[in-house]
Amino acid sequence: MKVDGQSFRSIWVEGDGWTIGAIDQRRLPHEFVIAKLTSCEEAADAIRAMLVRGAPLIGATAACGVALAMRVDASDAALERAYAMLIAARPTAINLKWALDEMRKTLAPLAPPDRARAAYVRAGEIAEEDVAINQAIGRHGLGLIEAIEPRKKPGQAINILTHCNAGWLATVDWGTATAPIYLAHDGGLNVHVWVDETRPRNQGASLTAWELSHHGVAHTVIADNTGGHLMQHGMVDLVITGTDRVTANGDVCNKIGTYLKALAAFDNGVPFYVALPSPTIDFSVFDGVRQIPIEQRGADEVATMTGRTREGKIETVRIVPDGSPVANYAFDVTPARLVSGLITERGVVQAERTALARAFPERAQNS
Ligand code: MRU
Repeated sequence: MKVDGQSFRSIWVEGDGWTIGAIDQRRLPHEFVIAKLTSCEEAADAIRAMLVRGAPLIGATAACGVALAMRVDASDAALERAYAMLIAARPTAINLKWALDEMRKTLAPLAPPDRARAAYVRAGEIAEEDVAINQAIGRHGLGLIEAIEPRKKPGQAINILTHCNAGWLATVDWGTATAPIYLAHDGGLNVHVWVDETRPRNQGASLTAWELSHHGVAHTVIADNTGGHLMQHGMVDLVITGTDRVTANGDVCNKIGTYLKALAAFDNGVPFYVALPSPTIDFSVFDGVRQIPIEQRGADEVATMTGRTREGKIETVRIVPDGSPVANYAFDVTPARLVSGLITERGVVQAERTALARAFPERAQNS
């Protein structure tokens, strides 16, 4: 995607052939800063501290982390150390495990001297595959947006609500939930996006709004609790979110607050779609509510807000009384029955066990 006329991905290998470059997402939307990752430890820290974030990008970064580790020490022990360090970085997005398993599958059978090069090649493939997958998701999701168009009067926008950031910043490029939106916009459809701010880390207000602005897509940032009201008043045609893990039977784990949007959508007859690459499906899990580990993050994320002052200074202020306990659940699970469909690289699939297994038989059988 373009930032001020220059093409960027969210992660890449630098010109020296081994350092990993990534956009520091903690600094957006106020500053566009490139971070350089030079070790497996730095890659793990980047995931943990959310310098990079979003399920597919977490996976791509972990793959790069293994490559960085192999450059220094390509022994079996080092491979296992890298795996253990990276898998512990964040618990919920299954793409992390998927990417690490892919790296291990590629590297373990090789002799150590061949591993570093092979690791960079496989990490590069994982990134390229993610881009291709998102483009395919875009094409399949576009059909859903196009189907709404004939119901609109001239000049009326197609209103899409999204939660968190499932855009190009959360993937390697294009995004999952945003890919159909970008294609619709580029194809001349009049789309407008309701962007949930997504407290506590404000991925919607800070990242999705930033992306959409740079792409010229009409959008409005709303407080997290606004979606239900908009749906009651016919102001949302379609919801598209991303996801961090989809179970074998189609339950969807995504950023905290997604479930409430799905409930509101269900109550108001608004289609609720989830866009995902197949590495986000965890065929080993059948009950999302009980089996998916939900990350709990630090209290400060809820108790404070960070922003830019009128004078241009970045400041963090406390918004909760000193001493008030705070809980910070980062994800929730939307049961499959509330999901209208899953937009995947192989088409729009019913959020249901047989349909998912039929769409991805090679993944379903191997787990
Ligand atoms: O905590 P984050 O910012 O990593 O959470 C990101 C999300 O919940 C995204 O919606 C999800 O990873 C899908 S990204 C294509």
